[in-house]
Amino acid sequence: ETRIFKVNPENPEQTIINEAAEYIKKGELVAFPTETVYGLGADAFNPAAVLKIFAAKGRPQDNPLIVHIARHEDIYRVAARVDVRAQKLMEKFWPGPLTIVLPRREDLPAVVSAGLPTVAVRLPDHPVAVMLIEAAQTPIAAPSANRSGRPSPTSYEHVLDDLSGIIPVVLAGGNCRVGVESTVLDLTVTPPVVLRPGGITPEMLEEVIGEVRYFNAKDLDAPKAPGMKYPHYAPRAPVYLVKTPEEILKRARELGAAGKNVGLLISKETKEQFFPNYSQNLLVLGSRNNPSELLHNLYEKLREFDRRDVELILAEVYPEEGLYLALMNRLKKAAAGRYLS
Ligand code: TXA
Ligand code: MG
Repeated sequence: ETRIFKVNPENPEQTIINEAAEYIKKGELVAFPTETVYGLGADAFNPAAVLKIFAAKGRPQDNPLIVHIARHEDIYRVAARVDVRAQKLMEKFWPGPLTIVLPRREDLPAVVSAGLPTVAVRLPDHPVAVMLIEAAQTPIAAPSANRSGRPSPTSYEHVLDDLSGIIPVVLAGGNCRVGVESTVLDLTVTPPVVLRPGGITPEMLEEVIGEVRYFNAKDLDAPKAPGMKYPHYAPRAPVYLVKTPEEILKRARELGAAGKNVGLLISKETKEQFFPNYSQNLLVLGSRNNPSELLHNLYEKLREFDRRDVELILAEVYPEEGLYLALMNRLKKAAAGRYLS
């Protein structure tokens, strides 16, 4: 049975945090909220505990984890070298949704990084996460708290949907503000490379450290972030990207006429213009002009389609720039790259 520890996300109760931290100290797993998504945490310096993360998620062991710290200076507990670029980025974006990849300290168990000589680190912007790490007195290795391949959890209910009965504790501290995973930036190469787009855009990074590169997963010969090669963020029904609202309307009619239970994932503007009276299994992601809102709602909407048992999902697309890069990255992965046209 998974125990649910309700905690105030703005002002976490220290006694509840301490009780959860005991599990981390004993080498057990704790799911906890961050500003991006819920994480599934273990003591990063306890290899047996870290292995439990891979087992609980069904995660391939060659996909490395992010280490979460509570204070800037704790980066020296896990990284072997912290260069000037890293320092500037930490200063500017921590606490927050930026993960940086640096050379790994040898005493950090290799299993955390799937054997790589590097480590991915971040300082989350969430009182529950920070207090848990402080109370556990150790950096916490944590991937997103979903079964491998599923959309990341943005509420504790999502965590329970995937991991109830599999993990001992979830710290239930409300919904995640950002709603998609952190930006992952590889600082072991020059220029640095964005391995996963997120709430901190390439432009925001460039303002601080100069040129950074961003590759679409398809541009890479060999996946650099090991996670890139696995299916991701997928609801149960297949997702298809559709290039224009007109095309979505046409396809929805055809498929509906053929008796298919179709799900539509579209913007408020597209609904108003093309689907004013259509209600069945149409989910509005947010305003086209508000990428933060679209990102915030994405995983909850993908999971809502599971609850509605749709047979396939048609999704609107967005320009691949700025914050929309993170959105399109997740949509393309959810769709396994499929477009209907
Ligand atoms: O927002 C987030 O980052 C959330 C919350 C819980 O902090 N965590 C998260 O973890 O999304 P996960 O495991 O789902 O994604 C970690 C990503 C993967 O794409 C992984 O391949 C990459 O970071 N990564 C981790 N360590 C790495 C390393 N040493 N080198 C390159 N990529 C790494
Ligand atoms: Mg994940």
